[in-house]
Amino acid sequence: MLVHAINNAAYEFASDVRVGLTRSGQKELPSKYLYDDVGSALFEVISHLPEYGLTRADERLLQSHADEIVERLDAPVAVAELGSGSGKKTRWILEALGRWQRTFYYPVEISRSALAMCERELSDIDSLSIVGFEREYLDGLLEVAAHRQRNQHLFVMFLGSTIGNFDRAAGVKFLAEIRHILQPGDSLLLGTDLEKPAEQLLKAYNDEIGVTAAFNLNLLARINRELDGNFDLRQFEHTSKINREARSVEMHLVSKRRQIVRIPASDLRIEFQEGETIWTESSHKYQPEEVFQMAKNAGFSCEAQWIDEQWPFAENLLIAE
Ligand code: TRP
Repeated sequence: MLVHAINNAAYEFASDVRVGLTRSGQKELPSKYLYDDVGSALFEVISHLPEYGLTRADERLLQSHADEIVERLDAPVAVAELGSGSGKKTRWILEALGRWQRTFYYPVEISRSALAMCERELSDIDSLSIVGFEREYLDGLLEVAAHRQRNQHLFVMFLGSTIGNFDRAAGVKFLAEIRHILQPGDSLLLGTDLEKPAEQLLKAYNDEIGVTAAFNLNLLARINRELDGNFDLRQFEHTSKINREARSVEMHLVSKRRQIVRIPASDLRIEFQEGETIWTESSHKYQPEEVFQMAKNAGFSCEAQWIDEQWPFAENLLIAE
């Protein structure tokens, strides 16, 4: 059974790589593959970099408003977190909830090592039971919903700025998919990174010591490790650029010269021109007001919004209508 699952995952990875790299026009790779064990560890380092203030803003808001957030929930709640990462930011909410109720916490995470870290990080919190799901977001949330008890509301946390990794329309669609799994009165705490000057954004996604570059390049290394590819990592370079129309930062890997790469497991031989890029991720930035409309379009109402004073970032509390 397990062997079957592993093969299946490898097959999916191979086929997604094939689809993305044989596109006519812009080559691309799905960003979820950035987060293997190495990538998740690198992202954890990114969250400590001075240039990347996002995670600290998220955490400051959660720490200073945990009680207020929790008081607005319809208790008792079971907590599901989509993409928990290390789980560090979630402590404040879980501790605040613990003053009112015994809590079940269900982190949903595709990285096994991140899930293990999260379970370790939060294991000391009183009156908390942690049950992790190594799943994609919606699959994991469906399972959590299937476990819910009749008197319980679900409280879903989708922190950081992962919503921004969807384009605007797909982001609303994703929120609507979450809404479909929920019941009226359930809630969603949504992190959104806000618009800020281009210079600040470019630095946040291309730090001086090169951790973000390593994070992005690890995707090619992962293809080499898992799909037997022969990317020469020294012949690719990380870059971030602003897309003004989309109001996003785009992450790319630039081919430094004309070259040919083989990926046997994807049955691929691909040519890169000098300067040609693989698009790996976009991070969309929001205006505080637009979150209210997004929530509405997805079947929620945004009941409260908290904005950090040092790094423009908003925590939004959405209630399922
Ligand atoms: N969700 C994170 C963000 O949009 C992901 C991220 C941070 C990222 N730095 C990156 C993705 C660099 C690719 C490359 O902020």
